[in-house]
Amino acid sequence: MSPTQSSSTPLNSQEASLLETYERFKSLNLNLDITRGKPCSDQLDLSVELDGILAGNYTSQQGIDCRNYGGLDGLSEAREIGAWLLDAPTDEIIVGSNSSLTFMYQYISQAHHHGLEGDGSAWNTLEGGVRFICPSPGYDRHFSICEHLGIEMVAVDMIGNGPDMDQVEALIKNDPSIRGIWCVPKYSNPTGDIYSDETIQRIANLGKITASDFRIFWDNAYSVHDLTDQPATIADIRQLSLAAGTENNLVQFASTSKITFAGAGISFLSSTKSNLKTFTDHLGFRSIGPDKINQLRHARFFEQESQLKSHMKKHAAIIQPKFTRVLELLDSELGDQTGASWTRPAGGYFISFNTKPGLAREVVKLCAEAGVKLTPAGASFPYGKDPQDCNIRLAPTLPTIDELDQAIRVFIACVKLATARPAD
Ligand SMILES: Cc1ncc(COP(=O)(O)O)c(C=O)c1O
Repeated sequence: MSPTQSSSTPLNSQEASLLETYERFKSLNLNLDITRGKPCSDQLDLSVELDGILAGNYTSQQGIDCRNYGGLDGLSEAREIGAWLLDAPTDEIIVGSNSSLTFMYQYISQAHHHGLEGDGSAWNTLEGGVRFICPSPGYDRHFSICEHLGIEMVAVDMIGNGPDMDQVEALIKNDPSIRGIWCVPKYSNPTGDIYSDETIQRIANLGKITASDFRIFWDNAYSVHDLTDQPATIADIRQLSLAAGTENNLVQFASTSKITFAGAGISFLSSTKSNLKTFTDHLGFRSIGPDKINQLRHARFFEQESQLKSHMKKHAAIIQPKFTRVLELLDSELGDQTGASWTRPAGGYFISFNTKPGLAREVVKLCAEAGVKLTPAGASFPYGKDPQDCNIRLAPTLPTIDELDQAIRVFIACVKLATARPAD
């Protein structure tokens, strides 16, 4: 039923008043979009010095002319940036072009089609198929990679300090076809979870109970994206894996997409030297080398880690007030009246909102009809199916604070209306 359609049951006065508010918003013909976690222009402006920073000097520290072909592993000075983000030595890091997602896709695609352990190890030859553990809600594009490659996804719950490790371990013990798990360990997309030390230790131990070509996809996309002055620190998965003898099961990813330019950053992949060799052997068929000029630009822009840290504080100064505005509105307008709940992230790009079960799709639909675009309900779950139909991902960074204010007021009106309506 459309929100304006008359119902055969008379509206109660509360519903009528909520409907009136909603119709008022609708009449404004808004066109607002809080779907994706994109940096806003003010954030992008923080890195405009990248443009022109080389001033005609294209030679790397090691004397490489960056205008030419080659350098599949990346420039050593660019690997330094990866080392700051991923807490790994530079000789265990390779640098790619923009988008760490490309590295993730390439790694899985290689494992799936060619294998990680030589002839006969391709995942797609496993009898009965391959499965991945997908902590949910999670990052929709991780799940799309699995779906695209025909890798079956098994959801496990995110429980506030990372995935439910009891579920993860039980699945692995009972299912030899599991070959991977997605992890966003700091300020997870969308829940904002920061993995606890115990969770990380248990993840580091997984290699002891899995197939040898099982991989932990440690996507540390938000490792320096703190919103407060007391940045969270997480346990060092690489050190824990080395201590457990499971280091070959770990592949880490990061990028500067949300540090410099989302569309023109540099990306990093880190793993053991033997894993990197297997990966770059295949990468060599696809590319003669990444964009080293952009790597050099980034290395000149961030010569010291302290510059990166102060740069990230400037990001926080721009986006933290947006998160605060959303939370203030949710707290004051929704409180605990609607049975909804939401996260209060200390970093990252999202607020994860849960309606009462069964209402998320309706809320997203009502918002769309009032000109506010939200990420489709269910997007944060494998196959786009939220079993409770309750989760909605809010992305506050892109709009201006006034646009955001308006979008969230509409969102709140939709949550209230959907909650007040009797179930069909
Ligand atoms: C968890 C996570 N990983 C990766 C990405 C994309 O990273 P990149 O731009 O490096 O491909 C995002 C973007 O939203 C993300 O949330």
